[in-house]
Amino acid sequence: MNASLFDSLQDRSVVICAGPGGVGKTTTAAAIAAGLAAGGQRVAVVTIDPARRLADALGLEQLTNQPELVDGNRFAGAGLKINGELWAMTLDSRRTFDELIETLSPDAQTRDQILGNRIYQQLSGAVAGTQEFTAIAKLYQLDRSGRFDVIVLDTPPSRNALDFLDAPDRLTSFFDGRALTLLLAPAGLAARALGFGSGAILGLLKRITGGELLEDLSVFFQALGSLIGGFRQRAEAVRTLLVDPRTTFVVITSPQRDSAEEAIFFVDKLRSAKMDFGALIINRVHSIGAAGRPAPTLASVASELSAQFEGPLAEKLLGSYSEALALAERDAATVERLRDETGEIEPLLIPELTGDIDDVDGLVEIHDRLFAAA
Ligand SMILES: Nc1ncnc2c1ncn2[C@@H]1O[C@H](COP(=O)(O)OP(=O)(O)OP(=O)(O)O)[C@@H](O)[C@H]1O
Ligand SMILES: [Mg+2]
Repeated sequence: MNASLFDSLQDRSVVICAGPGGVGKTTTAAAIAAGLAAGGQRVAVVTIDPARRLADALGLEQLTNQPELVDGNRFAGAGLKINGELWAMTLDSRRTFDELIETLSPDAQTRDQILGNRIYQQLSGAVAGTQEFTAIAKLYQLDRSGRFDVIVLDTPPSRNALDFLDAPDRLTSFFDGRALTLLLAPAGLAARALGFGSGAILGLLKRITGGELLEDLSVFFQALGSLIGGFRQRAEAVRTLLVDPRTTFVVITSPQRDSAEEAIFFVDKLRSAKMDFGALIINRVHSIGAAGRPAPTLASVASELSAQFEGPLAEKLLGSYSEALALAERDAATVERLRDETGEIEPLLIPELTGDIDDVDGLVEIHDRLFAAA
């Protein structure tokens, strides 16, 4: 067993898998959850927009917005014995938002007024950061339920990993009374102030026009007024959960330069926000030959190839080797930079794997790289 990942995650009840887009956050979150469940804990993993095949692998056919128990036999067949329990779900952002409104509404009438309101229906999906916020809101809900020893949270495919940390603030300002004034101000200003994607507010204004719009708006904000206080409190509690010592962040990146820079920036932010940086995972690393041994030089490979193959074939093969070598050197340099800049001297490396990663065998393979002996 690689002591370091188990060590970093030991006694944590919340593990947040964050990092740049497309680097393998969802896959790794599922593999980490499987590893902790194999170790005997009751684990829930909240995935966000998993690939179809990955959702199938976890048996997530129905989108219930609640964790479902994953059949341990799926993993046993691939060689991983789940000694505890693995629960998995896919975040339904909209439903999580609705659940939050239900919880915070002082009475059924207010709840129905908000949930049935067209402004709410349009806005709850359109405000930037909604997915990030509902992910943390779901995390908070599951943590409070006390049903799990540990919750592993995947994070949304945002352009910037930092959006995640800002989400509680942004959503609070949306629910703030000031939003009304902003909404009634010229559309462009309102859109910018609320962080809409361009066009969202214009589309909304086109769909709901004139008097209807104003009526909907006033009902919405009146109803909302009664739960702004509760919402603020919840956002505060959620923010507290992020800095709680029971919570740790696992930062995942690829060795691509842009991703690595974003990961470095994110680790800095975690540190300055006093959030726990538990582990650094560098996924999809290209390398040549056995770990720890230098790759054969281009010259030595050239002479070996020319001894064995015809000129054109030898040249072609040498070309491929040269490309692979360049990629491996680039990745090795980025890994070094990540080590230096994050201060994490033992990042966990996962190689670029061939074949399907989005199935149970793939997950177990990733798991083995993360948890098994080096
Ligand atoms: N080590 C690996 N080798 C090869 N393919 C991989 C590896 N890790 C992940 N992948 C593949 O990369 C793709 C992206 O992975 P994943 O969906 O986990 O990334 P993500 O960070 O969650 O992306 P997003 O930011 O879009 O949510 C998937 O198709 C996955 O199968
Ligand atoms: Mg993802």
